[in-house]
Amino acid sequence: MLEHGAATLILGAQYGDEGKGKLVDVLAEHADLVCRVQGGNNAGHTIWVKGEKIVTHLMPSGVLRENCEVAIGAGVVVDPFVLAEEMSGLSAKGFDLRPERFSVDYRAHVILPYHKAVDMQRELSRAKAGAAIGTTGRGIGPAYASKAYRDGPRMIDLTTPSYFDAWLAQHPHMEEGLSSDVRAALMGIGKQLAPHLKDVAMMACNRMAVGGRVLVEGAQGAMLDVSFGTYPYVTSSSLVAGACAGGLGIPPWKLKNVVGVIKAYATRVGNGPFPGELSGALETRIREVGREFGSTTGRSRRVGWLDLVALRYLARVNGLTGLAIMKADVLSGLEDVGLVTAYRDARTGKIAEGSPMSAEAWNAMEPVVEFCPGWDFVVSDTSETQGQPQPKDSPVSPAYAHFLKKVEDFVGVPIVYASTGPERTEGVWLGPEDVPFGALRP
Ligand code: IMP
Ligand code: MG
Repeated sequence: MLEHGAATLILGAQYGDEGKGKLVDVLAEHADLVCRVQGGNNAGHTIWVKGEKIVTHLMPSGVLRENCEVAIGAGVVVDPFVLAEEMSGLSAKGFDLRPERFSVDYRAHVILPYHKAVDMQRELSRAKAGAAIGTTGRGIGPAYASKAYRDGPRMIDLTTPSYFDAWLAQHPHMEEGLSSDVRAALMGIGKQLAPHLKDVAMMACNRMAVGGRVLVEGAQGAMLDVSFGTYPYVTSSSLVAGACAGGLGIPPWKLKNVVGVIKAYATRVGNGPFPGELSGALETRIREVGREFGSTTGRSRRVGWLDLVALRYLARVNGLTGLAIMKADVLSGLEDVGLVTAYRDARTGKIAEGSPMSAEAWNAMEPVVEFCPGWDFVVSDTSETQGQPQPKDSPVSPAYAHFLKKVEDFVGVPIVYASTGPERTEGVWLGPEDVPFGALRP
């Protein structure tokens, strides 16, 4: 799957939290460079290694593998305080974060305290109007807004006090929240980060030119894309496949594989349309077993059935070449498992054609849910066995294979990986034959 001299994109194909972090960690063993390309520390990537839970927000999930370099591309918005903390936490655990291994693009924009304050203020004002987005409060939207305004400082501006002073002198309206203490702290971090700042776009191209394998780690999920998601209930970056190439600065045709990551069900954190959303005991059960609480904000995630209508739409927009399906173990033991196979428009009573474009249209969509028989393969993801791999006779039971086939047939994209538990060792690679991990299709 990871071709030499090319890039592979791991893209969220729901509303985020699909388990991209785990898949990136698994694939990073075969990568030379792993990059984040959009979003910021609104992301939370959870990886389980031998029973230990590791969460990263800015650092690419490849950081846990020794064989690859890791980088943050120009399209990311970086909160320097969060990055510094994450770096020291990971270094303390023994991960190699020397400048030879970890790079940040000079051009990545900086999230300032001001951006976080604006994020909160805007949410409050929208909440009063009954229209809060439910952002993570990390300043992501305002930082991207500053970038579009050409107001925001970039990572390069933190490396030398004179650069930062020059930027501030030209943008006096950005002074809010920049007390002398904050500025001193920013300059301290800037100095520490300076050796890591590089032209990551060039690095990625150079690595590929000599046959290197680049792994691009998407953040959030494409239904939260600012253009193609459920606007305005979206994040503020473009995270569809085309934009991911742009966030790193590589030619789009270098993305040889675009793997859409989904869970066997769906979750959404924050507000906005969510066809197939569950309620009551079933929702609670899936949330508890799947530990569906935000890894960034701790919020309860909303839970629903896997939405094939949205997935087919995302397969088209992103040109998905494969699907990776995660967390089917969480549904183990359910009698039936639902799949959203159509939206019915409550205004007309008819099956909707195409994707809803307006908020009004979204509100009118009622999911048509088809049920498949449930499966029951050994569950490792329970509180008693936290993260400990359990022996499995058949990771892919016949009922689950039927479910996978249904997803594939509906979406028209092959499933290449099925995760069976949180550990990096728990999962199987499925055909096509050319996937170099063995064709294990049942
Ligand atoms: P923002 O990205 O903080 O502006 O939040 C906008 C929306 O995206 C909110 O609904 C968030 O809950 C959601 N969101 C942002 N990042 C993530 C993520 O990494 N996983 C899941 N949802 C996210
Ligand atoms: Mg997450």
